Amino acid sequence: MTKRVFVKTYGCQMNVYDSARMAELLAPIGYAPAETPRDADLVILNTCHIREKAAEKVFSELGSIRHLKNAKERRGERMIVAVAGCVAQAEGAEILRRAPFVDMVFGPQAYHRLPEMVARAAREGGGILDTSFPPEAKFDHLPATTAAPEVSALLTIQEGCDKFCTFCVVPYTRGAEFSRPAAQVIAEAERLAAAGAREITLLGQNVNAYHGAAPDGSEWGLADLLRALARIPGLERLRYTTSHPRDVDDGLIAAHRDVPELMPFLHLPVQSGADRVLAAMNRRHTADDYRRTIERLRQARPDLALSSDFIVGYPGESDLDFRATLDLVAEIGFAQSYSFKYSPRPGTPASAERQLPDPVKAERLATLQSLLQQQQRAFNEASIGSMMPVLFEKSGRHAGQLVGRTPYMQSVHADADPSRIGAILPVRIVGLRSNSLTGLIDGALEEAAQ
Ligand code: SAH
Ligand code: SF4
Ligand code: F3S
Repeated sequence: MTKRVFVKTYGCQMNVYDSARMAELLAPIGYAPAETPRDADLVILNTCHIREKAAEKVFSELGSIRHLKNAKERRGERMIVAVAGCVAQAEGAEILRRAPFVDMVFGPQAYHRLPEMVARAAREGGGILDTSFPPEAKFDHLPATTAAPEVSALLTIQEGCDKFCTFCVVPYTRGAEFSRPAAQVIAEAERLAAAGAREITLLGQNVNAYHGAAPDGSEWGLADLLRALARIPGLERLRYTTSHPRDVDDGLIAAHRDVPELMPFLHLPVQSGADRVLAAMNRRHTADDYRRTIERLRQARPDLALSSDFIVGYPGESDLDFRATLDLVAEIGFAQSYSFKYSPRPGTPASAERQLPDPVKAERLATLQSLLQQQQRAFNEASIGSMMPVLFEKSGRHAGQLVGRTPYMQSVHADADPSRIGAILPVRIVGLRSNSLTGLIDGALEEAAQ
């Protein structure tokens, strides 16, 4: 009899990738995906620890899972509950203490042992904890991807982080920096392309710190890897995320100039525009370093669209510091961005500093977000009237409508036949919704592009 697994994913795209791999690992031992946790024999929460609310959401979700588990038990059935991901790594045994009905807790570097853990949980009735490092073993033990073909696929090439920004839990939850060997990455990309992927986004907490073993025994940086992947037949678009400003090297800038498959969009988090705050954060670059990097990237690829992450209300951030962030934003101009109130994370250096009052953080966040939204809107408005090559990824909410992306990561809705999913079509951008564009596929142009 088939069993069912429900995986709920929180946090970043690396967790999305991990969740997909977990489902793949469970398929051979008889688990098919469930639509809801109610239908599941195994529920996995793949968690994120990056900000306070992320972990709290997990504990509140566990509350409702517990009711489902109890209801199942009353019917004489069993539900295995697992907490995976970064909260699992950070809290470990504490989760089993706080939520004793949880059967398994395992970190991001241990999930390749999932089939074994599930068998043990079924046999021994829970209490399984595996938060071991490092990631080499995991990648060597993951089966070849069998994922249902996706037009735009994710591929983790690097994990962990050695940078220790003072606000961040990632070095503690994901461990030390590790790059997968290039041959392993290329093989996975070839499988994805053969299965129908037209776009691949390379993932890493610090993806441009990539330094993997090359097929010839030397070492490759991200730029070398991108150039090799660009040669894979069928793969039309490459992206990578998330990068650190300090690791944007000459090779990567040149790749943005020379590799047409590398899309003209870059998420490059700066966090703050004030040198004092950047130094306190241990970012080890200044606001001017960031400006210069952007300038060089724009020289290489003039139409490059940019995105960033910002933290407001970091301990000690003054009004003047915050103003410097606004100035940097105004000067650079971002196509989209993410911004957060600083959230003290247990065990990180900044959490021990004196905290700013929440209303100050809230006000700064609102000010910054209104500027960023204005920029995003202006960027999208500027596309109206232009022709864009759009990669169609899936059906939209309305019948007859598809959703895709421009090279600049803008999402576009257009009327088209579902058979065009996976095609890159020239689209005339005609309108703007809150966060997306609407477009018309030009029949004649479509024919010409065949
Ligand atoms: N590796 C990436 C960021 C990973 S975390 C980098 O170096 O840029 C994603 C984003 O979450 C960060 O860029 C930061 O803006 C935000 N973030 C991380 N820790 C945070 C904290 N303690 N409080 C608020 N935001 C945080
Ligand atoms: Fe966290 Fe990114 Fe800093 Fe690493 S570089 S510590 S992942 S913010
Ligand atoms: Fe969250 Fe872990 Fe990703 S803390 S952002 S899931 S690396």
